[in-house]
Amino acid sequence: MSILAVLGGQWGDEGKGKIVDALCECSEVVARFQGGANAGHTILIGEEETILHQLPSGILRENIDCILGTGMVIDPISLMQEINNLKKHEIGINGRIHISLLAHVVTPIHKTLDASRETSLGSMAIGTTKRGIGPSYSDKISRTGIRMIDLRNLSLLKSRLEDKLRQSISQGFILETEKNDLFKEFDDFYKASEKISPFIEDTISLVHQYIDEGKNILVEGAQGTLLDIDYGSYPFVTSSNTVSGNICTGLGIGPKSIDNIIGVFKAYATRVGAGSFPTELDTPEGDYLQRRGNEFGATTHRKRRCGWFDAALGKYAVKINGFTSIAITKLDVLDALEEIKICTHYENGAYPSINLNEAVPHYITLPGWSRSISNVREFDNLPTRAKEYLKTIEGLLEAPISHISVGKERHQIIEI
Ligand code: IMP
Repeated sequence: MSILAVLGGQWGDEGKGKIVDALCECSEVVARFQGGANAGHTILIGEEETILHQLPSGILRENIDCILGTGMVIDPISLMQEINNLKKHEIGINGRIHISLLAHVVTPIHKTLDASRETSLGSMAIGTTKRGIGPSYSDKISRTGIRMIDLRNLSLLKSRLEDKLRQSISQGFILETEKNDLFKEFDDFYKASEKISPFIEDTISLVHQYIDEGKNILVEGAQGTLLDIDYGSYPFVTSSNTVSGNICTGLGIGPKSIDNIIGVFKAYATRVGAGSFPTELDTPEGDYLQRRGNEFGATTHRKRRCGWFDAALGKYAVKINGFTSIAITKLDVLDALEEIKICTHYENGAYPSINLNEAVPHYITLPGWSRSISNVREFDNLPTRAKEYLKTIEGLLEAPISHISVGKERHQIIEI
């Protein structure tokens, strides 16, 4: 038995799905512990690209059970869309989806509130995915939230939702004119809630049963360390703890049961939404990374901001999460660059979660390898300069590299 976690070391979109997919081969269970439909894993089903938002990537392998843990906020409408999409592709889901009855629910009201809060923040807007994540977690902390277990009693659910709508209108958070559209969405919400009810169960007992049975469990993180509500670049963060400390509360397990934690880092840096980004490139190199890396948000399709690899943030992420190894993704995107920079530290001693907006990055410049590495499958066969680039990152982050991804296909991966 082992519990292995795969978490993002940057601002999300590090390519966690690909690493999870590679590691799934040895797993019997894949679990998510935080976040919700703000995540987006682009995956290939046959020839067709599809995006998973709430279901763990393990759902594609029919021998794997999937847990949506207590720490998540779950949108029934979006979840039903994902399930229907899998059914369309004839992927069997029977008995494989287990949703924690204690996870909180994202209702249509939360999505409307997310959008209206963003508008009211004006130039201070977070740039959220507008999936209702913040408002749902706010209700959880205020102890006014709706949990998955509440979906089992439809008449009570209806009256709670209608009360909440009345309150939101009287407090001026939702306009009277939005009411009709919301009522239409309520119908979809109730239908979806009924359909996902059979998947709702006590996942705490289940996960401990899996542990007792000696099953291999893979924990899949969403977003990334710098989007963590406490340790990220607050307030431009998501509303959950994305770091390893939250795996325990998000799934109901003790820290000693987690054996390995892999931190996933893109070979450069990207960010969607607002907030500090010390190594951001407003230059042709930034445009190159955006184009060549096809850097568009999987959930909102926004262009991702791009920049050089930031080892100051990387080292911080290693410490906060206790990464036992790291995976570097999209190394092939750097193939055509003559020179590549890495930020080694901040010249003014700025600290990531405290004053990242003041950081003055110090760079070293390494020569590029100027050839395609997409077909390389062994570390030793990489160009010397690519190996130097990776060794430099490894040295700065003080964590061993265990995986390198050199393309988007499943087999384009180097394991060390
Ligand atoms: P929220 O999680 O929708 O509230 O958005 C808060 C911030 O996190 C925004 O900057 C989003 O762009 C960012 N964010 C949320 N989920 C992801 C993700 O899966 N990848 C990258 N950024 C994300």
